[in-house]
Amino acid sequence: MNITRLKLSNFKNYDVADVAFDNKVNIIYGNNGSGKTNILDAIHFLSVSKSYFGLSDKYLIKDDQDFYRIEGHYSQDEKKDHIVIKYKRDQKRDILLNTKKLKRVGDLIGRFPVVLIAPDDINIVKGGSKERRDYFNKWLCQSDRTYLDALMSYNRLLRQKDALLKGDYTPDRLTMEAYNSKMIGFATTLHNSIRTALSDFIPAALDQYSTISEGKDDIQLNYLSDLSDQDIDVLFNNMIPQEIHARRPLVGVQRDDYEFTIKDMPLKKYGSQGQIKSFLYALRLAEFIYLRKHLKRLPILILDDFFEKLDQHRLSTLLSLINSGSFGQVFLSDTELARSKTIFEERGITFGAYRVTEGSIERDQ
Ligand SMILES: Nc1ncnc2c1ncn2[C@@H]1O[C@H](COP(=O)(O)OP(=O)(O)O)[C@@H](O)[C@H]1O
Ligand SMILES: [Mg+2]
Repeated sequence: MNITRLKLSNFKNYDVADVAFDNKVNIIYGNNGSGKTNILDAIHFLSVSKSYFGLSDKYLIKDDQDFYRIEGHYSQDEKKDHIVIKYKRDQKRDILLNTKKLKRVGDLIGRFPVVLIAPDDINIVKGGSKERRDYFNKWLCQSDRTYLDALMSYNRLLRQKDALLKGDYTPDRLTMEAYNSKMIGFATTLHNSIRTALSDFIPAALDQYSTISEGKDDIQLNYLSDLSDQDIDVLFNNMIPQEIHARRPLVGVQRDDYEFTIKDMPLKKYGSQGQIKSFLYALRLAEFIYLRKHLKRLPILILDDFFEKLDQHRLSTLLSLINSGSFGQVFLSDTELARSKTIFEERGITFGAYRVTEGSIERDQ
């Protein structure tokens, strides 16, 4: 699915914008702070109804306006779709697919898949377990509606159980077991889905890593979960006394982590900057490959601040990939046009160039 046209009203630093995109490469260029990332975030938003940066609606509305609206037109072969996301201050956000209001965010899942690579990806490696869980959850949700639904139900129960444990009255064992029995079903679904997905994703990520880095490093990616080698019922219910004592939930997929190692040492501590960049890049490409396979459509690939992440070797690898036809529509942002332009022209790849200046975007002639 390609995005052919994007319209914005009062979105971040844009009053109004209306721009038509190319089916292949789109280069968004302009000074720092002019609004390049905002355009890319709008495209991301249309795909998953979330800002890439996790910003809530009130931060997406331009300054002191009272609503924002994002409209995207998509096409694939003969099929055309359009989607509108609008929000008025202090009201619920509306999502319309081909003018029909969607009842649930999940109805959008997998229609317009997107993979965004941005500089703050580094937190996936350097940050805590939450950053890693969030990263994996995001693309798992994008690839699988059942996963999204199970995760939302699980998190709702987890919040309820947490509130119960922190409440004025100490819950008894039976109440705790009742919560657990509901949570166990969702936890099992989530855990099994992660394992199945990773059996596809991990080999792809390692493969991408060795392409990018010319295969010299011994990289590993492991899923760490309390749920892995135990009976999940027993695990949950054995923990009840400790949970009552600690007054918070102590077991479940919210404690999962993902371990990245290089030569059996933590990548975070032992990996060079270049190795970490290659690894992040490999994760994103594996995500792309996974979504493409499972959704049977080509995700839009977005590379924000293109040149910041790519040395000459990685750049060449990526460009040969773009050229090989494994990718569909690609968006790149950079502060200047000249360097991207040269690179694409040298390779005979056609592109559209879009100049961004202080909240306005225009296609170069
Ligand atoms: N809700 C908002 N209202 C108005 N301006 C905003 C809002 N959110 C972000 N901005 C502005 O958008 C600009 C950053 O745009 P961004 O797309 O990140 O720039 P860049 O071209 O460097 O990627 C900043 O000037 C920021 O103040
Ligand atoms: Mg930016």
